[in-house]
Order: sequence, then structure tokens, then C-alpha cells
Amino acid sequence: MKTDSTKPQVPKPEDLASDEPYKIGLFGYGCVGQGLYHLIDQLKHAGAEVVRIGIKDGKKSRDLTADRFTLDKTQILNDPTIQLVVEVIDDAAEAYRIVREALIAGRKVVSANKKMLAENLPELISLQHDFGGTLLYEAAVCGSIPVIRTIEDYYADEPLIRLSGILNGSSNYILSKVFSEGVAYSEALQSAQQLGFAETDPTLDVGGFDARYKLCLLAAHAFGVLVKPEQVLSAGIHGLNNADLEFARSQDKQLRLVATAERVGTELALFVMPQLLDAHQLLRGVENEFNAVVIEGSFSGPQFYRGKGAGSHPTASAVWADVKAAARSFSYGYEKLKTTLLQGITNDLYLPVYLRANETIHRHLTWEQVEHRSIDTVQGIIGLKQLVAHQKLLQEQKVFVALNGNLLRKDPISGVLQAHQSEVAELIPVLKNNVV
Ligand SMILES: NC(=O)c1ccc[n+]([C@@H]2O[C@H](COP(=O)([O-])OP(=O)(O)OC[C@H]3O[C@@H](n4cnc5c(N)ncnc54)[C@H](OP(=O)(O)O)[C@@H]3O)[C@@H](O)[C@H]2O)c1
Repeated sequence: MKTDSTKPQVPKPEDLASDEPYKIGLFGYGCVGQGLYHLIDQLKHAGAEVVRIGIKDGKKSRDLTADRFTLDKTQILNDPTIQLVVEVIDDAAEAYRIVREALIAGRKVVSANKKMLAENLPELISLQHDFGGTLLYEAAVCGSIPVIRTIEDYYADEPLIRLSGILNGSSNYILSKVFSEGVAYSEALQSAQQLGFAETDPTLDVGGFDARYKLCLLAAHAFGVLVKPEQVLSAGIHGLNNADLEFARSQDKQLRLVATAERVGTELALFVMPQLLDAHQLLRGVENEFNAVVIEGSFSGPQFYRGKGAGSHPTASAVWADVKAAARSFSYGYEKLKTTLLQGITNDLYLPVYLRANETIHRHLTWEQVEHRSIDTVQGIIGLKQLVAHQKLLQEQKVFVALNGNLLRKDPISGVLQAHQSEVAELIPVLKNNVV
């Protein structure tokens, strides 16, 4: 194992049962940071203490005395009495520098920054391996739902067939308000921001990017596939208008922003897009800032997890659970990265969609089948490859496109579109050492 001789020796943390409070260095005192501070203050029996808080703006008024804060990150990173670093800042580039430096010092680190994690996951895994530190990030995916730990632990060996989820609390809150309560889109977005559900830059939420970061993290843990966020389709809800809502209502469907990971043979298809949900679908009825995930194992069948995906205390609760787990020497095993031989990602799927766009966009798109066309909308079947190829344009023009039915594949010989199914038998040969 490597060590960085230029850095002070960091003490190896003992468990939380020690007489001394467990010492935490906290970066960020916004929505999540304050929630964590408050939670630790309430859970006196938990035996932890935030010794110092790193922030950016020295002039902001705070509810704690000035001596608790620092603008100098080395006061936390180089403090040998600090046993664990929590990073909950909203600046992904600085979060990366903090987490990287802490891991190189062999520290235990908890982060909630999905953008930073998704963009740097392979390196962050290597740093843990090389320097013996630990990085946990449950709060980065689905807020309070323990989804990463569940996948790591409960599903450590079982090959998964698919995973789908409502992973962005802010978009779900907006869709709930707009769809069920008739609130205007801009008003619903403002309300999500005021309640602390929205990212500082709301495009991350409503453009589907935040859900895409989370889907990339889940793909690594659930399927053993490391993927760069920009490789994955993200179609957001920012182009939604009343005509789209009327269409959904006319079909008795509910609109939600859904992230999907789907096994396709020995590859994985990943995409984030609005979906028109039927009454029988498990994700239908997930309202407001709630998140939900459906995990389908090859033996367990589908299981449904639901909980608050954003907000100060729900997110802080997941951060705290990681602090406690790290103190007890838990670390992610990344079992699926070790055992699965999936060959990467594929866009070889066909999607029944409802799409509304201007004429220029329509000219760019090639359809497999068109069932209905109006001045600006098309209902039909389109290749995922088409949507990925044009995703920059679709994002820039805020094209509204929603999945409206079951996934399809083309028969390799006849070219006929047929229902996509991932069979258990298809999964077993792609496991190293036949671990099942
Ligand atoms: N809010 C949620 O519901 C939620 C849910 C899951 C995950 N997360 C993630 O948690 C993280 C924090 O989110 P948040 O909602 O708590 O953000 P926030 O309310 O905007 O607070 C951000 C905090 O980060 C600090 N900060 C920003 N840049 C910094 C820098 N360069 N150095 C030191 N401190 C810096 C800010 O300092 P100042 O106080 O000085 O401005 C502020 O205290 C983000 O990665 C977010 O994606 C949030």
C-alpha cells in the first residue's frame, strides 16, 4: 500500500464506542452540512463531534461562532486529530481536490457530491485501494434510501437484470406539483429551490443530469460497469408544456423522470428520460421529493425501495449512516466490478416514445415506426442510438421526449422489432468463475 510521506500521519479511527467523541472535519455548511450538524447535535448518544467546518464565504452570517469555521482546507485535511472527513460542498471541482487529497492521506471520507463521484469514480476506487482510505457516498444517490449499501450487501452476488428509479427529488417534486396540483412549472421550480431540494444550478435537476450522475454510480455498484456520464442519454423535463400534460392525462398515465439500467445480452443500456407510467408500474404514485428504486435480481425478482431523496435532514441521515459505517471499518466491496463480465454499454434498444419538437429537430430524427404525427408531436418507435446521437441538440432545444411503452429489440436476422427480455440464463455465462 502506498503512503504520502509529505503528509502528517492520520490516526486510524477507532469505533464510536470510545469515550472520546468521534472527530469529524466537515466541508460545507449549507442545506446538507447544517442538517448533519443538527443531526449530530440531536444524537448526543452517538458520540460524534464536528471539530471544524470548511466554508467558502467568510462574510456570511452563521448560527455558530466564527471559530468553528475555516476558509483554509488544510486546517481540516492536515489535522491529525480528525478521524473522518465529510465533504458536502456544492463545488464539484473543489470537492474532487478535497476528497482526492484526503484519500491519498489514507483517510476515511464521506461525500454526497454525485457529479464529482460519477465523473471520477475509477480514480477514486483506485485511490482507496492504493492508500487504504475509505470513501462512502450513500447520500449521493436517492438521499435517505440506503440503495448503494443494499446493492453492495444484499445483492453482492446475485446478477441483476434491471434497475429503474426516480432519482431526482427536485424534478419529481416539480412534476408532482405540475401534474397533480396544476401549479405552473416556474412556480414549482422556485418552490423546490426554496425547500432545498434543487441543486444550486437547477439545470442539473430538470435537464436530467443529476439523475444521470446517480445512474452512473448505480451502474458501477449494481452491474460492474464503469461509464462516463456523457455516454448516457439524459433527456430532462425542462421542455414540458401543457400539451404534454394533456397527452399524459388523456392516456391515463403519470409522468415521471426515470433513470433506467437494463441488461441487454452481455451489455448494459442506460438512459434517463421522462416516462409515461401505467397504473400497474411501481414507480407510479411516487410524489414530491420522494425517490424510489426498483431493483430486479435474477433470482429475487423486482423489489421496490422508496424514501425522501432530497432535503436537509433526509440527506444528512444518509451521510450520518455512512459516518457510522466508516467508523466501524465498512467499505464498499465493489463486488460486481470483480465478478461481472459485462462488456460495457449498448444503445441497441428501441423505444416507443412521445416526442414534441420543432420542424428542424424532426428533420434530424429517423424513426423506426410512426404511429401518429401532428404539427409538432410524433408518437412512434425510435432507436436509443438516434436519441443518443442527437442528445446535445435535444438538450439545447429542450425537446420533450417521453418513454411510452415497453422496450424493444430488433431480431438480428429478420430485423423485426420485438419485446425485449433479459433472461436469467443469459446472465449466468457472463459471471467470472461462475460465482452463482
Ligand atoms: N440538498 C440536497 O437535498 C442534497 C441531496 C443529496 C446530495 N446533495 C449534495 O450535497 C452537496 C451539498 O449540497 P447542499 O444542498 O448542502 O449545498 P448548499 O446548500 O448550496 O451548500 C453548499 C456549501 O458548500 C460550501 N462551499 C461551496 N464551495 C466551497 C469551497 N470551494 N470550499 C469550501 N466550501 C464551499 C458553501 O459555503 P458557504 O456557506 O461559505 O457559501 C456552503 O456551505 C452537493 O454536492 C449536493 O449535490 C444535496
